[in-house]
Amino acid sequence: MSVDSPFPELKKRHTMARAGRPWRDFKPPPSGPVWGIVQGFGSYWTLVAAIDLGIFDGVERLNKCTVAQLAGVLSVSEPHLRHVCDALVTFGFLDQIDDLYELSETAERYLCTNGAASMASLIRVAPGPHRNWEQLADTVRTGRVATPIEDDPEAFYGPLVDATFVTQHRAATRLGWRSGWQRRSGLRVLDLGAGRAPWAIAVLEQSEGSTAVVNDLTRVLTDARDTIESRGLTDRVEFRPGDFHQIEIEENAFDLVVLGHVCRTEGDAGARALVERAWRALRPGGQLLLADYFADNERKYNPFGVQMGLTMMTNTRAGGLLTNDQVAGWLRDTGFVALRLIEPIGFQFVYVADRPPSS
Ligand SMILES: C[S@@+](CC[C@H](N)C(=O)[O-])C[C@H]1O[C@@H](n2cnc3c(N)ncnc32)[C@H](O)[C@@H]1O
Repeated sequence: MSVDSPFPELKKRHTMARAGRPWRDFKPPPSGPVWGIVQGFGSYWTLVAAIDLGIFDGVERLNKCTVAQLAGVLSVSEPHLRHVCDALVTFGFLDQIDDLYELSETAERYLCTNGAASMASLIRVAPGPHRNWEQLADTVRTGRVATPIEDDPEAFYGPLVDATFVTQHRAATRLGWRSGWQRRSGLRVLDLGAGRAPWAIAVLEQSEGSTAVVNDLTRVLTDARDTIESRGLTDRVEFRPGDFHQIEIEENAFDLVVLGHVCRTEGDAGARALVERAWRALRPGGQLLLADYFADNERKYNPFGVQMGLTMMTNTRAGGLLTNDQVAGWLRDTGFVALRLIEPIGFQFVYVADRPPSS
């Protein structure tokens, strides 16, 4: 007895030769990944709203709370707030048991204003000017970013470096512990595009009698001055405002040169020029620290690095994705040796490379 196929059409007509892979019709892939991207837009703005409304700080103050209690403290509409809180539960930022909401560990650490590694002030600025994303198709058509951050870099970088200081200072401090800065006194450091100077500060805190030349654009450097002063390090720092491609830099003078998260906005030529400046500034035997978010060489296994590259392309004149091969190439071509790629804290990577003593 023959059994009729439940999919007669599929059996008769869908052969690889005629219509491709039959299971594409029979069992199409789920649309979830597409919805995931569409809803990602809403997720981002929900997080922005949560920060603007003070939801995480509010839940922290109340410890465990109902939406009604939180709405009272924040003076907002309870039914609207409930939608936001429920979405925050799905993101893993709030935990909810029955009617009570509390912070997850992620929110405590990264989303409360006083969290140990707070990113609260970073959320709005990290993607770059939002209109650049709306105009991404035009950027790709024309090869030109409408509003690159270089048009007003100080307005963009001021809040950014404030928000990233804690993480970068932790990364620099751990790198110093591993590198033995505390055993080397009197180090001379040059920190180019220093932001609030997390790298220079970490060296000064660990190496007795060390001094630093700290560079950034004038307005950003004013904030760095405050941070350095609050740590009692002003006497050991020379502030050198200006464009890091243009400022005067002594040659053969520094034990450490830091390029901390400055290369990915520069493009290949700009970053190479910075690496070459760093080489000339170092004394023979000195060390370059080049920290950034790197992508894998195949540009597909490290989504964070690939997407960071996209963010740079979308928001800067020349910036983009950096692969490890590309960065190692700049370093080797310039003459650096003994390249090490170090992860001093999770997901933060630094190339350490030596200018040979005999060079
Ligand atoms: C992503 S932040 C990194 C800050 C810091 N180095 C760190 O690792 O946290 C990049 C910094 O480079 C500075 N910068 C960008 N272009 C610059 C230029 N042409 N000259 C000097 N500084 C510049 C920005 O103002 C900003 O502070």
